[in-house]
Amino acid sequence: MSDGHVFLTRRIVFSASHRLYNPELSDEMNWKIFEKCSYENGHGHNYVLYVTLKGVPDIKTGMIMNVSILKKMIEEHVLNDFDHRHLNHDVEEFKTLLSSVENISIVIWNRLKPLLKDLLFEVKVVETENIFAVYRG
Ligand code: NI
Repeated sequence: MSDGHVFLTRRIVFSASHRLYNPELSDEMNWKIFEKCSYENGHGHNYVLYVTLKGVPDIKTGMIMNVSILKKMIEEHVLNDFDHRHLNHDVEEFKTLLSSVENISIVIWNRLKPLLKDLLFEVKVVETENIFAVYRG
């Protein structure tokens, strides 16, 4: 039986650099864990972010949410800090947290959750063609 819920996903692309390095570990350990991702000056990715909402379409609009409002929300609360930035230096959360794709999905969720509340179902971040992370809170 269907409960009338629909999943709606907005896809947004952004570019950012980052470095995977834990200052509490030795350079040797960092190399062992992160290899090339630990190079001092960082490296870049073209990230693809998928924000999925779950809700019942409004009877008047047919929408779960106006997607242009959603897009502006993501731009204001995520992309302004993330796009064309160095995540480790420019995003407050990653000053103390490894900027792994797993943590990126959690940080984006935590930024959007207070705004989207129960509508937010999933945040998916694709880092390369072979790796992505999914967070559902
Ligand atoms: Ni990387």
